[in-house]
Amino acid sequence: MNRKLEDSNDEKGRHTVVLRTALLGCGSVGSQVARILLEEADSLEERIGARLELTGIAVRDTNAIRDVELPPELFTTNATALVKDADIVIELMGGIEPAKTLILAAIENGASVVTGNKALLAQHGPALYEKADAAGVQLSYEAAVAGAVPIVRPIRDSLSGDKITRVLGIVNGTTNYILDQMDSTGVKFYDALADAQQLGYAEADPTADVDGHDAASKAAILATLSFHTRFRLDRVFCEGIRHITAEDIAAAKDAGYVIKLLAIAERTTTGDGDEGVSVRVHPSLLRRTHPLAAVHGAFNAVFVEAEGAGELMFYGQGAGGVPTASAVLGDVVSAARRLVLGGPGRTEIASAEIRPLPIDTVMTSYAIGVEVVDESGVLASIASLFAGRGVSIESMHQSTGQSAQGSAELRFVTHRARESALAATVRDLADMDVVKTVISVLRVEGE
Ligand code: NDP
Ligand code: HSE
Repeated sequence: MNRKLEDSNDEKGRHTVVLRTALLGCGSVGSQVARILLEEADSLEERIGARLELTGIAVRDTNAIRDVELPPELFTTNATALVKDADIVIELMGGIEPAKTLILAAIENGASVVTGNKALLAQHGPALYEKADAAGVQLSYEAAVAGAVPIVRPIRDSLSGDKITRVLGIVNGTTNYILDQMDSTGVKFYDALADAQQLGYAEADPTADVDGHDAASKAAILATLSFHTRFRLDRVFCEGIRHITAEDIAAAKDAGYVIKLLAIAERTTTGDGDEGVSVRVHPSLLRRTHPLAAVHGAFNAVFVEAEGAGELMFYGQGAGGVPTASAVLGDVVSAARRLVLGGPGRTEIASAEIRPLPIDTVMTSYAIGVEVVDESGVLASIASLFAGRGVSIESMHQSTGQSAQGSAELRFVTHRARESALAATVRDLADMDVVKTVISVLRVEGE
């Protein structure tokens, strides 16, 4: 059920359809969306066939200084009233509440909703999609994953006739910037983080970025879209990048790899032969020849593998007010065109019942660094420990350069094995008398 659209005549006496558009939030992204809605009103009208009338902007503080100069009379603290009277609601407040209640009210009222709120969608997406489907309204969220990069619509529409097998994404700009700086300049994690904060990439409290939670929300959204089933955020295995050292980066580089924080959603078979989808976020070693290895700075990219289309990569700016506003406006125009033409909103397909696989059952490959006593027989005893766990070694590199007197550093890359066997191997290694320290454990991806 859609609201009755308002007709009016413009200043030249022409008949126009007016779509009442409410904006919730006027921060980095919202302020740019408001600016474009006002500055580009005529050209948007030509593209849509209806005029978008910005009816108001809900904020917490109507007197705050904004990034963009906007008509003061548009600002209100009464988001509920604004939503009641809208054909299109653009939610850019962030957080769970009151965003969720306001979006539900908009849907119940028959309005189309556009949001960039990945945290909300990752936690409550399924309930919101169901409400939108039941009400026949459109809920769009291109900006929620990888900012300006068109990835939601390509997966939802362009690839809907194909079968996606794997999605590998660099979907957090802050962590990619940090890891890229560590890789290209040799700087340490906390120095690179401070740099990212100064440049405005990372939040003042960067926990959601560096501990992988932001990427995990995006992974849940990508997995839900790609595999037509609901993946809850609490089923996403999540490990951040705080523990990555300059030595890990240097060792990876020496071996021909780069370390990236990847959001992974893949259709796979476990070591026990069970089929399902593994959704996980963790720092990963990628060969330097992999297309994602060339994603530098705060850029984002999503690498999609599909049965028919093969390999595809979507690349661009994953954050920032202006780039993200581009994705929001794309959704607004699309929703507005649908309102003009009529018909129900696009339905989210969630008919597949694919099992989310727990991380310990998944087949992965590890890169393990250990500091050992440098004496004869050590390598043989370690090799036999790997064999005892059924883990096969793909390559091994030994050096003494950085190690203490009488020590050597061994770096192993394993073949794919069950994650639980790999984790047990690492535990056993740590218990060996000849092993002084397990220096690092990282998964290898993209093979
Ligand atoms: P900001 O924190 O910059 O802005 C949030 C805005 O929402 C502010 O104007 C704030 O009002 C308003 N707001 C917050 N809570 C309330 C409330 N309870 N009632 C009324 N208004 C409220 O956020 P961003 O613009 O950075 O992000 C917006 C959304 O877009 C988030 O969901 C984010 O995850 C997503 N996103 C952001 C990207 C980015 O690069 N920034 C990239 C991709 C997605 P006031 O100004 O008065 O405090
Ligand atoms: N903090 C996020 C990032 C913003 O660094 O990518 C975009 O979601």
